[in-house]
Amino acid sequence: MLLCIAALGLAAARCPADELPQNGKEAYLKGCASCHATGIDGAPRVGDHAQWGLLIGMGKRTLYKYTIQGRGTMAPRGGTNWPDATLRAAVDYMVELNK
Ligand code: HEC
Repeated sequence: MLLCIAALGLAAARCPADELPQNGKEAYLKGCASCHATGIDGAPRVGDHAQWGLLIGMGKRTLYKYTIQGRGTMAPRGGTNWPDATLRAAVDYMVELNK
């Protein structure tokens, strides 16, 4: 946000970062929790350590890839238009929650 104000001052440009979650937690809450907090449609539910244990065992690289490409009933990028780095941060956050 501070960066955003600075950028506005310099360039009077639109600041797309406003729309973008600034960290993994924000990303998770904004874009992933709607399905992953409850396990709707078979989404691996945060807090289900058995299921996440298997996912974590596949390695983060694989989870990043599935998130970006989409997997089963989950749309590519979890249905967002966020850049890879934001999606990776969201995956990292979910992995942290499920360790
Ligand atoms: C509309 C509901 C929905 C949203 C929103 C959603 N997911 Fe998912 N996600 C799913 C479902 C359903 C699966 C299980 C897919 C399958 O295996 O068939 C899944 C699976 C996953 C997996 C495990 C992949 C695997 O091999 O099973 C990861 C990692 C994941 N989602 C990350 C994310 C992240 C990060 C976000 C937010 C950017 C997100 N998801 C948003 C529904 C969702």
